[in-house]
Amino acid sequence: MNRETPPTIYLKDYTPPAWWIDTVDLDFVVETGATTVTARLALRRNPAVAAQPLVLDGEDLETLGVSVDGQPATFVATPTSLTLTDLPDACTLTTVVRIDPDKNTRLSGLYRSKDGYFTQCEAQGFRRITWFLDRPDVMSVYTVTLHADKEAFPVLLANGNPVAAGDEADGRHWAKWADPFRKPAYLFAVVAGKLDVLRDSFRTASGREVQLAIYVEPGKLDQCPHAMAALQKSMKWDEERFGLECDLDHYMIVAVGDFNMGAMENKGLNIFNTKYVLARPDVATDVDFENIDRVVAHEYFHNWTGNRVTCRDWFQLSLKEGLTVFRDQEFGADLHNRQTARIREVRGLRAAQFPEDAGPMAHPIRPASFVEINNFYTSTVYEKGAEVIRMIQTLIGRDAFRAGMDEYFRRHDGQAVTCEDFVAAMAAASGFDFTQFMRWYNQPGTPKVVVDGHYDPLERSYTLTCTQSNPRASDDAPALIPIRVALFTEADELIAGSERTLQLTANSQSFVFNDIGDEPVPSLLRDFSAPVNLEFDYTPEQLTLLLAFETDPFNAWEAGQRLASTLILGAAAEIAAGRTPQWPDSFTAACRRLLQTQRERGAAFVAEALTLPGETTLAEQLEIVDPDALHAARNGLRRHLAEQLEGEFSGLYAALTVKEAYAPDSEQAGRRALRNLCLSYLLELDSDALRRLAYAQFREADNMTDQFAALAALANINAAVCVQREEALAEFYDRWKDEALVVDKWLQVQSTSRRPDTLATVKALTQHPAFDAGNPNKIYALIRAFGANLVRFHAADGSGYAFMAERILLLHERNPQVASRLARSFDRWKKFDADRQAHARAALEKIRAHPGLVRDVLEVVERALG
Ligand code: TRP
Ligand code: ZN
Repeated sequence: MNRETPPTIYLKDYTPPAWWIDTVDLDFVVETGATTVTARLALRRNPAVAAQPLVLDGEDLETLGVSVDGQPATFVATPTSLTLTDLPDACTLTTVVRIDPDKNTRLSGLYRSKDGYFTQCEAQGFRRITWFLDRPDVMSVYTVTLHADKEAFPVLLANGNPVAAGDEADGRHWAKWADPFRKPAYLFAVVAGKLDVLRDSFRTASGREVQLAIYVEPGKLDQCPHAMAALQKSMKWDEERFGLECDLDHYMIVAVGDFNMGAMENKGLNIFNTKYVLARPDVATDVDFENIDRVVAHEYFHNWTGNRVTCRDWFQLSLKEGLTVFRDQEFGADLHNRQTARIREVRGLRAAQFPEDAGPMAHPIRPASFVEINNFYTSTVYEKGAEVIRMIQTLIGRDAFRAGMDEYFRRHDGQAVTCEDFVAAMAAASGFDFTQFMRWYNQPGTPKVVVDGHYDPLERSYTLTCTQSNPRASDDAPALIPIRVALFTEADELIAGSERTLQLTANSQSFVFNDIGDEPVPSLLRDFSAPVNLEFDYTPEQLTLLLAFETDPFNAWEAGQRLASTLILGAAAEIAAGRTPQWPDSFTAACRRLLQTQRERGAAFVAEALTLPGETTLAEQLEIVDPDALHAARNGLRRHLAEQLEGEFSGLYAALTVKEAYAPDSEQAGRRALRNLCLSYLLELDSDALRRLAYAQFREADNMTDQFAALAALANINAAVCVQREEALAEFYDRWKDEALVVDKWLQVQSTSRRPDTLATVKALTQHPAFDAGNPNKIYALIRAFGANLVRFHAADGSGYAFMAERILLLHERNPQVASRLARSFDRWKKFDADRQAHARAALEKIRAHPGLVRDVLEVVERALG
């Protein structure tokens, strides 16, 4: 293969920039077919660094002119760099470039979407707009002028404050914006479009009035109030919890239907995927409403954790992302339901981050190297990063953590800093020594902690011995692992004084509890105090006791998950050996008790507790995965529970009806979640009456949560004929074909179906008018979701792999970021049997051999083939 190997970038090679850019003045002339960008940069040599030429970054730019202090300049240009030598120590560089946003299918830089032009500059999109030092430690003050056709693009936005606007010849107009805050280029944004706007305001604690605006596709204003309320709640929450006020006069959110990720925190001008803005009870589910709260908060919180204090380099990404996810998690927990929030966080971590950390793309939350930075916007950097921040809070306590945040801003406001700087502020505020803790930033892999309990009746003492290991780490040095524990008596009582946070700092270490009258049941890793796999040799009786009586809801849930995992994995082995699995009555009885106590324990909790661990999570516990056996085992247990508990499920289904007007609050959402869980169990039974019940719910629901839950349950049915299924799918599309986000749900419910013909359906849907091969949301809903459908993607004949390879090669040049995310479907290919591995290898090799393969996909595929 004659391909140039793309360079690897290393953290250890970091050097400060040779030049600063103090101010940036940009002028955009937006015309159909081309946009002309004139940039005036006030340059200044960095006196701390030996003199070097100026080397600017660029990509897909057509250079029309380059001048220094008003004089045409000599320069050396390559496709990705513009070099100027012999510059004075301070000067003004003016460049004029032409770009073609109408042809920008990568959705990085300036691009066209249905209602106008939008930008995405993180991580390295600004260089696709103009020549620049496109790195986060170069911070500048920006002024921006936009010119465009007034009729087609009446709304012209940029970061900061509007300073002037006016009309021009030929039906055109212009607007000038000034952002008073220094910022790195990745936070730059402009929008030129035809959009509706919802306006409101927020008065900060110190009495400043912030103007709020949400811009959306015309006709969608009635889907904006929830996001606006979420923004106001976030602003208030950050004042109360962290003493952080909004520093802006204008805070704008713009929703766009073509967007690679969830949303982007551009200073004062967030750009969002429509998925995280638009909501109305009939088109969005309870989970959608909650996700909108979280994402709106996330981007708002970045204004301090990311924007006021930013990253020195992209290796420090978790500095802003881990911390901001932790903040949005805490906001979500306060706003909704803290118990189930934590359960869902851990469920998500185990479904995505643990597999990532055990696979070919494993990396520390601060990677040491990368080929393509966009490949490192991962569940590790985000979600494990948030767990690391949470551990800091667990170790030093909430008050010291708050003092550490204050210290972080006192030290670093306006700077571009490193993860060490953050931890140093926490250390200064708390006196805690984080030296050993830094291992969490530098090592990949999920540590395993094996715990052994020993009761000594003579001493009346109980000893927990914890042994840690992490085969993915580069050495055997131990991590600092906070393990929250409590002890319970066999008679279901929490032993007073036994609640502790153990600090495991050695490879193996013992912790003694004194004055313990009888052999206790330990509850370990309460509230999931560290992102580790913890093993303890529990008996089913002990787990059943914890499920019923543990006062920490996370660990009660965890006990249930351990019970279910053991049963399902045991059954999968039975099925693989050709035997029929047996299910113990004790588990059914424990589930029955959960259903009976839903009032006291909360419907939301019970719904989580009765949701069996997912196939992807279960697969991680196996050496070699037989996806068909695993699938049969998990669904076998669901069906068994449905048979045994039909009366309870039916009774609760009737009892839990929500009679009040729909509201996406946690109380109602919990009831709907449990009721719909009952329905999904009931549909495991081959009963036409129950299918009609689901179809009736589908037809009569006045909200998307109930409508979609019924559709999803029906979509899994694998009967030769199931009229309810066919009709529900057809009616759903017919009713919602003009609501893009609902169409995504329709695609996803089919690509995630258990049915054996799912791949054929997915293939057919790629030809359906509902699908758009350039739109990330559609690709994620249909193709990526299929890649996460364990049993269907890993079909024994390799058809799932071949299909995915084909889609990746169709997409990679059009949108490298999204193609690379699809390529991650192959991450765990080595966990399957030899035949499947041979098919997966062939698919991966086919991708790798493709001439001109983009480096985003190449990095993922090379690591997978290892
Ligand atoms: N910083 C964004 C966030 O976490 C993530 C993001 C949005 C992004 N768009 C992107 C990252 C495009 C890489 C590429 O909120
Ligand atoms: Zn973020």
